Amino acid sequence: MSILVTGGAGYIGSHTCVELLQAGRDIVLLDNFSNAKPEAVRSIKRLTGKDFPVYATDILYEPGLRKVFGEQEIEAVIHFAGLKAVGESVQVPMVYYHNNITGTLNLCKVMAEQGCKRIVFSSSATVYGTNPDVPFREEYPLSATNPYGMTKLIIEQLLRDIWVSDNQWSVALLRYFNPIGAHKSGLLGEDPNGIPNNLLPYISQVAAGKLPELSVYGGDYETGDGTGVRDYLHVVDLALGHLRALDYIQKGAGVEAINLGTGRGYSVLEVVRAFEEASGVPIPHKIVGRRPGDIAVSYADPAKAQRLLGWKALRELGEMCADSWNYTRMSQKNPEEL
Ligand code: WQD
Repeated sequence: MSILVTGGAGYIGSHTCVELLQAGRDIVLLDNFSNAKPEAVRSIKRLTGKDFPVYATDILYEPGLRKVFGEQEIEAVIHFAGLKAVGESVQVPMVYYHNNITGTLNLCKVMAEQGCKRIVFSSSATVYGTNPDVPFREEYPLSATNPYGMTKLIIEQLLRDIWVSDNQWSVALLRYFNPIGAHKSGLLGEDPNGIPNNLLPYISQVAAGKLPELSVYGGDYETGDGTGVRDYLHVVDLALGHLRALDYIQKGAGVEAINLGTGRGYSVLEVVRAFEEASGVPIPHKIVGRRPGDIAVSYADPAKAQRLLGWKALRELGEMCADSWNYTRMSQKNPEEL
């Protein structure tokens, strides 16, 4: 029996596939490669020495999903596949609603037909909206400030409603805070297409000389140094959280929302300093106006993940920055040098 990983070639998906394989699980990787590179699959195989089926198909294409379930024995799904750029979602909301929600509905429909009723869903701290009370706890009221966040909120609700209609389903809604960093090998990491929206890949490209300077969005927030505060967690810690969640949903049935964060917030300027220290590279930066839609402070109360999953983030900010920088440098090398 295998674990189907949708979006398995993506940033978090690929790191999770490595940890699943190294934990002795069999996987099936599904990706449409719209925001992931085929070499991620080669890196997963190289790092683990394991082979596994890969389906280059789309969760929007039902026959492709049926082919996967028809050819493979899937015992549970970890569902990463989806569009995830906040700014882009404001520009093209219909694309986001169709891709993320219709795609997930297709997936759940085929899962139900096949009697596969266990799913770990890639949700996000963005569902806490503009809640001013930190740390965020799972029972807090939810809201969305952009179409991307709204798709996460709607998918959480649709999975809850599926469970209400059929209590055999077992669902973990994992709310990621800010995943950063890369696999120690430097063979996997965050490699967004175009100019990065997120802080760490942007800083990495400044350090690599691909971008001239970091714009710090806002220096007048009610925080220690006026810049935005977020809960950054190492992508490998995050990947390991998925293995714990998988074990958890395989033990019983129900729906649980669970924060995956460190419980510690860092400001933008603190991250810049940590990256400069880890890389030895100065990061030119200037404080500019706030980015529309940003909140001042976001960090997790990670107690439920510890209690339910026995999971806790272990890696510190310095290691996250060092691993990001290592990946950036490795990805600048020619493939034959790797
Ligand atoms: C972090 C901090 C910015 C870029 C989003 C989504 C979330 C998840 C992660 C997908 C903020 C500041 C950033 C820059 C900056 N996405 N910043 N200059 O906005 O917390 O979360 O990405 O799963 O769902 O909401 O992450 O990395 O964009 O920003 O000053 O060039 O860095 O203002 O304070 P964010 P981020």
